[in-house]
Amino acid sequence: NYYAILMAGGVGSRFWPASTQANPKQFQDILGSGKSLIQTTFGRLSKIIPQENIYILTNKDYTNLVKEHLPQVKEEQIVPEPAMRNTAPSILLGALKIRKKNKDALILVAPSDHWIDDDLDFSENVEAGFNAVAEDDKLITLGISPHFPNTGYGYIKYNPEEATRLSRVEDFTEKPNFKKAEEFLKSGNYLWNAGIFIWSAAFIIDSFEKYLPEMYRLFEKGDRLWNTGKEGEFLEKNYGLADNISIDYGILEKSDKVFVIPVDFKWNDLGTWGSLERELPQDELKNTVVNSRLLPLDSSGNIVSTQSGKVVVLDGIHDYIIVETSEVLLLLPKNKEQSIKELRDKVQERF
Ligand code: GDD
Ligand code: MG
Repeated sequence: NYYAILMAGGVGSRFWPASTQANPKQFQDILGSGKSLIQTTFGRLSKIIPQENIYILTNKDYTNLVKEHLPQVKEEQIVPEPAMRNTAPSILLGALKIRKKNKDALILVAPSDHWIDDDLDFSENVEAGFNAVAEDDKLITLGISPHFPNTGYGYIKYNPEEATRLSRVEDFTEKPNFKKAEEFLKSGNYLWNAGIFIWSAAFIIDSFEKYLPEMYRLFEKGDRLWNTGKEGEFLEKNYGLADNISIDYGILEKSDKVFVIPVDFKWNDLGTWGSLERELPQDELKNTVVNSRLLPLDSSGNIVSTQSGKVVVLDGIHDYIIVETSEVLLLLPKNKEQSIKELRDKVQERF
């Protein structure tokens, strides 16, 4: 009964210029491991979930990329979304299609672009989650111990004293402001939402009916059509009408059936260039090098990524992000990495 929804429709804009609208980060080897992030993630999931039960939800523009990166996947496992509407519509669509296949299906929802250090530990936690949601109606998320007040994450309030593997979530706050994030971090009662969820197809669909009823009714009209040749036409007409909302705001903040499994494996959502420093080795001068050969002369703390394995020579350069693609060469002080989206927009306007 194990199924997965692999979320692969995001744009990864803070990894520009490597990640672009046409070729977003999940299809790239951001860590220089020899595999793209989606390939690594698919490999991790297929250790617990039969390959043919893994559905890849993505924007229609990326179906060819998915086929290229995951040739082992059948056409019917790739679900193209006609419009970008964030994660809630996408997860509902995936759950409806899966329920049509198997009404007792249990679903793991996973992002395609994260890094996790220990696949075995990951599998054990997912298995525990599957067991729990098979017993009764729960929405489970995996929780990570926070280590800085990141405002881009969901924060999960729980009771760390509870000795069980699964804790009831007392409160879920998606993307708090900085002040709140700091308070949450200090209190010791909060975990980060890893964005990895476990639930039964039946119960997540019920939760949509309760908390996002318009979206539920929109998709319900297509229920006869799932997994038939007529589905595409229905989605073309209706998908774009769904509210643009994430599962976190749409369901997790509202439901009182959310539970968390605190996990110990190392996790990184590879949100920004700077986040690579935690997962990749550095030279003696703390330079991080991806797909390049670096000659650092009096140069430290840089993150260097080229597309071609080029030799990069730096002299007197400190704390820069240096990224070369066939189109763009970016040189940006590390402390300005939050401005990457704006830079990308400016470049797109002008060139
Ligand atoms: N299929 C599909 N369609 N996938 C999408 C879409 C879409 O329209 N939009 C985003 N995704 C994919 C992304 O590629 C990513 O793998 C995942 O869904 C999550 O989307 P993000 O846009 O990266 O979400 P976020 O980082 O702002 O926040 C989420 O993840 C955090 C942890 O990384 C939330 O779940 C937070 O609560 C969480 O802390
Ligand atoms: Mg993200």
